[in-house]
Amino acid sequence: MKEPVFVSPAEIAASKAAAKRVKDEVYGLGLTYHIESYGCQMNEHDSEKIAGMMEDMGYTKAEDKSKADFIIFNTCCIREHAEQRVYGNIGALKKRKDENPQLMIGVCGCMMQQKDSGRKLFKRFPFVDIVFGTNELHRFPLLFEEAYHGERTLQVRDMDGEIAEGLPVCRNSTFSTFTNITYGCNNFCSYCIVPYVRGRERSRNSMDIVNEVKGLALAGFKEVTLLGQNVNSYKGDGETTDFPALLRMVHDQVPELKRIRFMTSHPKDLSSGLIDAMAELPRVCKHIHLPVQSGSSRILKLMNRCYTREKYIEEVQQLREKVPEIELTTDIIVGFPGETEADFKETLSLVEQVGYSAAYTFMYSPRKGTVAATMPDQIPDEVKHDRLERLNEVQSRVLRNGNMKYIGTYGEVLVEGCDHRSEPMAYGKLSNFKMVYFPGDDSLVGSMRNVKITGSQNNSLIGELV
Ligand code: 5AD
Ligand code: SF4
Repeated sequence: MKEPVFVSPAEIAASKAAAKRVKDEVYGLGLTYHIESYGCQMNEHDSEKIAGMMEDMGYTKAEDKSKADFIIFNTCCIREHAEQRVYGNIGALKKRKDENPQLMIGVCGCMMQQKDSGRKLFKRFPFVDIVFGTNELHRFPLLFEEAYHGERTLQVRDMDGEIAEGLPVCRNSTFSTFTNITYGCNNFCSYCIVPYVRGRERSRNSMDIVNEVKGLALAGFKEVTLLGQNVNSYKGDGETTDFPALLRMVHDQVPELKRIRFMTSHPKDLSSGLIDAMAELPRVCKHIHLPVQSGSSRILKLMNRCYTREKYIEEVQQLREKVPEIELTTDIIVGFPGETEADFKETLSLVEQVGYSAAYTFMYSPRKGTVAATMPDQIPDEVKHDRLERLNEVQSRVLRNGNMKYIGTYGEVLVEGCDHRSEPMAYGKLSNFKMVYFPGDDSLVGSMRNVKITGSQNNSLIGELV
C-alpha cells in the first residue's frame, strides 16, 4: 500500500470557510436538503458526510424529497441496474426544475468518477447544477457555493485518492454507525469497478480512528462498524501494525463501546491474527462478512480473487473452530464469463457446506474498463436469471435449517426499529448479525435487550423479551 496522502488542514479550512459563507447567505431562508444514496455502506457513510456539510451550510434535512430545496444523488456504479435507476430518478426532476428554477440538483459518487460519466451527465441533464467525483467530497462546500451563485459546476479529478480528516458528519442513527478505516481498493478483482472509482487503497491513522470511535461511544453510540473495501489489508502506522492490532486497540481503548463490527474482509488476507482477535475480544461481534463470489476455483482464478475454494473452506473451518458462535455472510456473483453449469454447481455445494446466515447474490454485470467485461463466453441473461433463482433457493433452505439451532437459546439484541404492520414487533441483531423480531414497541429502539429465541420466520428469528 502506498503512503496515504492527507488533505491539508488548509484545504479543509477553506472548505469550512466556504460552508460558513453559504450559511451566512442563506440565514433565515429555512432551506432544506435531501440526499438520495445508492450502493454500499461506504456510500451511505459518504452521504452522512455530505449531510454534515449541508448542515454546516445552514440547510436542514427536508421532511421529504418533494419539499427539498437541494436534492443530491450519491451514485453507485457497481452494477448496471444501480446506474439505470439513477438516470431515471434524475430525469424525473426536470419537470420540477422547470416549475421551480430555485431548486438545486447535484450528482456525485462512484458513477460520476467513472471515465467521462460526469461530463456526459453534465451535458445530458442541463438542469443539474453540480456534479463531482469521489475525490472532491471534502471540497463540496466550495463547489456548492459556486453553484448557489448560479454557476453550473463540474469537478471530477482522476487521481489516486486522499484522506480527508475532520469533515462534519450528520449520522443517520443515534446508536449504530460507521467509521472508515481504509479507503479505495488495490485488488482489481476482474469484474469490479471499485478500484477505478475509489482510487488506491489507503489507511487512516489509527489514532484518528480510535479518537473518532471514542467520541462516538461517549456520545451514546452502542455499535460502530469499521469500514473498508478490504479491512484485512489495513496498514498500521506508528501505533499499530495491522488490522487485528487496530481491532485490539479500538477494543481496549474504547471500553464504553458495546459492539465493534467490521466489513468487508477479503478471504485472501484473512489472518490467524484476526481469528484470534475475534475469539479473544468479547465486544468484537461474532460475525464476519467474507465474500466468496464463487465456489469454483477455476472461476475464482478468472476473477483474480487470489484464493481457491479449498483455502476458503479451510478459513471457514478455522473461524468456526476458534469462534464457535460465529455466523458468516457472503457475496456471490452468478454468470461470470465462462461460468459453466459445473462451476455453478460448485457454488451451490459451497453454500450448502458453509451454511451462511445471509448471502447477497448478484448476476454478473459487465463494467466498462474492467478485465472481465472483455472476456470471452459472456453468459446469456436467461442463464444468469436461472442460476440466481436456483442459488437463492438453496440459500433459503440452508438458512431455514440453520435457524433451527437457535430455538430455545438466549441472546442480546441491539434494537434497531419497530415494525407496525400487524402487532408491533421490535427488531434488532444479535452479535452474530442474526436478525430477531419480538413483540415490543418504539420505546426499545436503541437499547440492548435480552431475548429468548422461540422460532424463525423467513430469514429472521422470532423471540420474546426476557
Ligand atoms: N457484477 C455483479 N456483481 C458485482 N459485484 C461487484 N462487481 C460486480 C459486477 N460487475 C458484487 C460483488 C461484491 C459486491 C459488493 O458486489 O459480489 O462483493
Ligand atoms: Fe471490488 Fe474486489 Fe476491491 Fe471488493 S476487493 S472492492 S470486489 S476489487
